[in-house]
Amino acid sequence: MADWQKSDWRNKPRVQMPDYTDAGPLAAVEKRLSSYPPLVFAGEVRRLKAELGAASRGEAFLLQGGDCAESFAEFAADNIRDTFKVMLQMAMVLTYGAKVPVVKVGRMAGQMAKPRSAPTETVDGVELPSYRGDIINGFDFTPEARIPDPERMAQAYLQAAASLNLLRAFSSGGFADVRKVHQWTLGFTDKPEAEKYRELASRIGDTLDFMEAAGLTSATNHELQTVDFYTSHEALLLEYEEALCRMDSTSGKWLAGSGHMIWIGDRTRQPDGAHVEFCKGVMNPIGLKCGPSMTSGHLKSLMATLNPENEAGRLTLIARFGAGSVGEHLPRLIKAVEEEGAKVVWSCDPMHGNTIKSSTGYKTRPFDSVLREVKEFFAIHNAEGTIPGGVHFEMTGQDVTECTGGVRDVTDEDLSDRYHTACDPRLNASQSLELAFLVAEELSGRRAGLERAKAV
Ligand code: PEP
Ligand code: CO
Repeated sequence: MADWQKSDWRNKPRVQMPDYTDAGPLAAVEKRLSSYPPLVFAGEVRRLKAELGAASRGEAFLLQGGDCAESFAEFAADNIRDTFKVMLQMAMVLTYGAKVPVVKVGRMAGQMAKPRSAPTETVDGVELPSYRGDIINGFDFTPEARIPDPERMAQAYLQAAASLNLLRAFSSGGFADVRKVHQWTLGFTDKPEAEKYRELASRIGDTLDFMEAAGLTSATNHELQTVDFYTSHEALLLEYEEALCRMDSTSGKWLAGSGHMIWIGDRTRQPDGAHVEFCKGVMNPIGLKCGPSMTSGHLKSLMATLNPENEAGRLTLIARFGAGSVGEHLPRLIKAVEEEGAKVVWSCDPMHGNTIKSSTGYKTRPFDSVLREVKEFFAIHNAEGTIPGGVHFEMTGQDVTECTGGVRDVTDEDLSDRYHTACDPRLNASQSLELAFLVAEELSGRRAGLERAKAV
């Protein structure tokens, strides 16, 4: 991208971004953030890209997950720890099923700007601008809270920096030890309802015992004590992204310094729009949400713009169609990718196509629909001979009641008990781990398919 500038998006049509009423405070915050250190380093971003390159070939598997929207109010060490912890458990179970490394990417440390389906919302006859995530405006349903405030960007930066600091400490400070992660999982499978997962958990335990007997313990092996954990968010608020964009001095390339991976949402992926313009110029791995309205023409043009050199690991296509609709949409996009010979990671987001209103009025997602979309995604890739390379979940380590179903069956009536999300309903810790067990079964099938393909 020789002549690309980090401010070029300003000349393109933009959607889903706030109109800041006062230019002075906005410019002041942008200036301050531009002088602050970036949150991530180019070497880490290159490593993540290489790992995603492996995922595109079936030699690794991507697990991306976290809050729909991180909020200022829920910012606390325990929340970060619990989501990190459940992701490690999921990764262990998935590694066992896939027999390849699992690339762990949190929707964390920056996931604070939200696209909305409507610009306003009406409650009891009062209409106000929609909430757009804590980095933009406030959740409270008052006219003052809903005014976009640029100072929130500085607060978001601080929160992202402190979150990332804690994640880095957890990753290498002994918290991520395999034995410990396995112990937590045993806590889940001890429950009577988790009977069907006990067997897999005990096989993982046997494997760890065997490794230990062979001298591979976390006391002697650094790899068993530490993990690589990456961060990601939707690059929606481009003023913030531009302010944290830095030139990598080793390669001379531009780095989005706000997180390791950034993605383009299903509502902001216009090929000539501002969001694509920004993302095309930075070296980070880019995610692209693909919903039902994505045509093969759009996808081809986006792939050419976002990954002109066809670099493996650069582009992750995140399919989000809804259970029952994957068969209608995924095959045409797989065909487009195959026709271009494009190297991509195919990931499945079974959340955003499965949001419904419960009988009790809450926005929810049935666990069964989430699982069904994952199964359809795997089945279609298996049928097409292409590689299902990852999953993307909205989840939390907290024991919330936002999605229905799962072994500890959350009902429509339970939703009001602990419904805490600032935006979309998330899987709770138990539902997340259960889903990992079920995806692990699909991954064992993928392994058999990949081995058959190698043999011929
Ligand atoms: C999201 O991931 O929170 C989101 C808004 O997704 P999408 O762009 O796919 O609707
Ligand atoms: Co969401």
